[in-house]
Amino acid sequence: MVEPFAAVDLIRRKRDGGALETAEIEWLVRSYTSGYVGDEQMAALAMAIFLNGMERREILDLTRAMVASGERLDFSGLGKPTTDKHSTGGVGDKITLPLMPLVASFGVAVPQLSGRGLGHTGGTLDKLESIPGWRAELGNEELHRQLEEVGGVVCAAGAELAPADKKLYALRDTTGTVEAIPLIASSIMSKKIAEGTGALVLDVKFGSGAFMREQDRARELARTMVELGTDAGLEVSALLTDMNTPLGRTIGNANEVRESVEVLAGGGPADVVELTCALAREMLELAGVRDADVEGHLAGGQAMDLWRRAVRAQGGDPDAALPEPSETHVVRAERDGVLARQDAYAFGLAAWRLGAGRARKQDPVVHTAGIDLHVKPGEPVRAGDPLWTLAAEDGSRFEGALAALEGAWELAGPDASFAAPPLVVERIGA
Ligand code: URA
Repeated sequence: MVEPFAAVDLIRRKRDGGALETAEIEWLVRSYTSGYVGDEQMAALAMAIFLNGMERREILDLTRAMVASGERLDFSGLGKPTTDKHSTGGVGDKITLPLMPLVASFGVAVPQLSGRGLGHTGGTLDKLESIPGWRAELGNEELHRQLEEVGGVVCAAGAELAPADKKLYALRDTTGTVEAIPLIASSIMSKKIAEGTGALVLDVKFGSGAFMREQDRARELARTMVELGTDAGLEVSALLTDMNTPLGRTIGNANEVRESVEVLAGGGPADVVELTCALAREMLELAGVRDADVEGHLAGGQAMDLWRRAVRAQGGDPDAALPEPSETHVVRAERDGVLARQDAYAFGLAAWRLGAGRARKQDPVVHTAGIDLHVKPGEPVRAGDPLWTLAAEDGSRFEGALAALEGAWELAGPDASFAAPPLVVERIGA
């Protein structure tokens, strides 16, 4: 068969600042997935996109082509609206855990297909796997059944969803082309469109612990993804949220599950509750549920009830004790003061060094490893008070974690005033 295009022509055009046609993009993605277009050509194209960007129409074409490379789930038979959330990832970001059952407790289906952590940001499935017996991998039939019978599910995204993205993402990871907004936006949105949700809320984070450090770049990413979702027929909006400080008082796996259960029981840290409720309201609004009393469903036990049913449906025991670490190290305040700064990236890196995250995709995580934060910015401490507890299975990991925390926090004088920056900075709608 004669190929309709030559990859090198398309690379040259992108390199010189031109745009690619719809048919060209479809051919490229198909040919790259099949192996006809090689990694070296796709890497050159990704770099040209990184340097010269893409038009809105090109990004949509790329997203659609990646969706078409695999299976597309269809929940129209459920007879109720579907809504989901995607976070660009952060430190202590356990929001999916209380959010899924909270939103599903209003009768809206929540198919939350999630991933594992890589680097300093944690992965939702890694956290949930600290629950004894809990299974992340579900077949499509099981997924449908759980949505029908329970109303919500958090599980692993199957390999059949947007396989072109998986291949391209791995290539970008090794060629310095991850940070291109058209490529990030099409990568995230292709998976979410293929997942088949009708509504989607994006939690796009900025700050030291986020994928995008600068707020302006995060806003541009959010706008691009909202445009893509809208063009693809989804109800979509984004919240721009601050990730300069870890979310909540736990960073790790089992400890983040414990904190999420506290939120579901009507307690938990104020920032986790605030973000959970803000995202829940947004997800419900997009799915057509107005003025939902989300705080009431946390305080009243409806969200907890759904969580317990969802955990059981996936083989987990919601009453089982979570694993405890064998080694801990407490860092204490040397003087009285007020915590003025707690850098999300450094705390995420420290938790990763303790074993809470993985260096390579195939590595296991240590479910008990992580950090409990006894103090958050703005809170006072007395000399000798515990600031944070590091946990690991191997005490030799503490040294590297403590090194990551050097210079990562600041204790101001006891009379220092502190104004917490807003957590949810902006809403970006269609
Ligand atoms: N997450 C994704 O799924 N894709 C990207 O390109 C970046 C983050």
